[in-house]
Amino acid sequence: MKFFIDTADIGEIREAAAMGLVDGVTTNPTLIAKTGRKFRDVIEDICEIVSGPVSAEVVSIDYDGIMREARELSAIRPNIVVKVPLIPEGLKAVRSCTDAGINTNVTLCFSANQALLAAKAGATFISPFVGRIDDISDEGMDLIADILTIYDNYDFDTEVLVASVRHPVHVLQAARLGAHVATCPLSVLKQLAYHPLTDLGLKKFLADWEMVPK
Ligand code: G3P
Repeated sequence: MKFFIDTADIGEIREAAAMGLVDGVTTNPTLIAKTGRKFRDVIEDICEIVSGPVSAEVVSIDYDGIMREARELSAIRPNIVVKVPLIPEGLKAVRSCTDAGINTNVTLCFSANQALLAAKAGATFISPFVGRIDDISDEGMDLIADILTIYDNYDFDTEVLVASVRHPVHVLQAARLGAHVATCPLSVLKQLAYHPLTDLGLKKFLADWEMVPK
């Protein structure tokens, strides 16, 4: 499973990259706004650090506007993936982007039918938001299971990019299901390696080593 980091913060991306846990980056308008910096500057800086897919989201909601932004964004660097909201105008644009060789990440996916349409449009990635589904007392990972079944049924190439990840169990469940990618906040990536018994065991090993004659 590939790990993407879900942030636009350059410091966080550098830290995660140093851990060897950044196969790609996902951003969105909210994450860009948190940086207080210009969009293009942030994306260019991220692409200086990460050679894998870097998702940059359009903010137009009409076909022509989305296509204009998609051409602009994809021209910044070869590894840019254009993030498009899962709306009818967005799906039309994804089909055109696919035909033009522009990679896309279809975002704000909350149903299997939406994911089916994105795959038929040729999306490179689909981003179901599991955390936001959990937030309304439904089962976000059930959506991932449904999407993976449907994509396998019809041999779609679209990769399932589990988004809105809130904790390590989301990562575990995504891996059990065979999702292609999990995009995580840095905090979750850092939690993955942690286990209290590992820390306790290492502490005991080192304490016992002190008893070994030198
Ligand atoms: O990539 C989508 C992700 O940033 C959304 O996460 O926590 O705002 O639901 P969240």
